[in-house]
Amino acid sequence: MKDTVFFLGKGGVGKTTLSSAFALELARMGKRVLIASLDPAHNLGDALSARLDSKPRTVEPNLDAMEVSLSSWVERYLEDARRQLKENYSYNLTLNLDSFFNILKYSPGTEEYAVLWAIEDVHCHLAPNYEYVVFDTPPTALSLRFLSLPFISKLWVTELIKLRERILEKRNTISQINPVSPIAESCVDKEDDRVYGTLTTIRKRLAALATLFTKKSFMSVIVNPDELSVSEAVRIKDELDKFGLPLEALCVNKQGVSDAAWELAPQLARLTRFDFDFTREGIGSREDLVRIGMASLVEYFLKKGSQK
Ligand SMILES: Nc1ncnc2c1ncn2[C@@H]1O[C@H](COP(=O)(O)OP(=O)(O)OP(=O)(O)O)[C@@H](O)[C@H]1O
Ligand SMILES: [Mg+2]
Repeated sequence: MKDTVFFLGKGGVGKTTLSSAFALELARMGKRVLIASLDPAHNLGDALSARLDSKPRTVEPNLDAMEVSLSSWVERYLEDARRQLKENYSYNLTLNLDSFFNILKYSPGTEEYAVLWAIEDVHCHLAPNYEYVVFDTPPTALSLRFLSLPFISKLWVTELIKLRERILEKRNTISQINPVSPIAESCVDKEDDRVYGTLTTIRKRLAALATLFTKKSFMSVIVNPDELSVSEAVRIKDELDKFGLPLEALCVNKQGVSDAAWELAPQLARLTRFDFDFTREGIGSREDLVRIGMASLVEYFLKKGSQK
């Protein structure tokens, strides 16, 4: 069952517009929907003509919307890391925990972890109140990084778990040889070891997110009738393919915006395609969003989503 929706694509192709129109169409069919913006530069509120913040606010019957505060998720992630470092390693005075923490603060990956835990929070704590969750995504680079993170991180967390198991075995061996050594005091079974417990919990959370992305999410890529957005869509498809993430639909938005020549790449031509005209008068209201015409994509989503 697919109940989570992501629209991906180059900057400005219409991710916020189409995800809002999609959420509105579902809501007006009578489905309970939450739309959540993951873009640090939020403009979901403008698209939906509603005042939004980091908690779900009702936009109209059946439709709630929120703008996830990524900066507070980054802070939360760092605070969690600081607490765990202190809990697990404060006995080791040779480690300078503050300098460790500073490295973490500026290390690559912090922002995408924050997005990942924000998605987990929406999925675990808010999604149960709705039938469907639509995510308005950030720029491609960040989206591809957070979507691939559960798969990449699972590999190294698994290696860290193996390493921790070896450390615990060695400690036990030493304590058998010399039961009065200081190491013997810190000997615990795997089940009682805090580091081992933390690592296995992280692995479980990552596995749940991987399942959310591969089995429960409907991903769609948007292009405009231009070469650049098509190239970026091909790059997105290639990256998603690497992790077995299925791309289920192609949206060609802003049809008729220009007469410039463009061509759809063969990789994209195999996707089920939905076209949306360019609205010359601009899109300024929810009724304009509804006029974009989402019915056939929503119908396709509901049919596809209920198959698995
Ligand atoms: N079909 C359309 N007809 C007319 N204007 C459109 C259409 N789709 C999107 N737009 C306009 O194009 C602009 C960019 O759209 P939107 O903000 O949805 O793109 P985006 O992909 O979310 O951008 P970003 O990458 O900055 O988040 C907006 O002004 C929006 O109103
Ligand atoms: Mg946007």
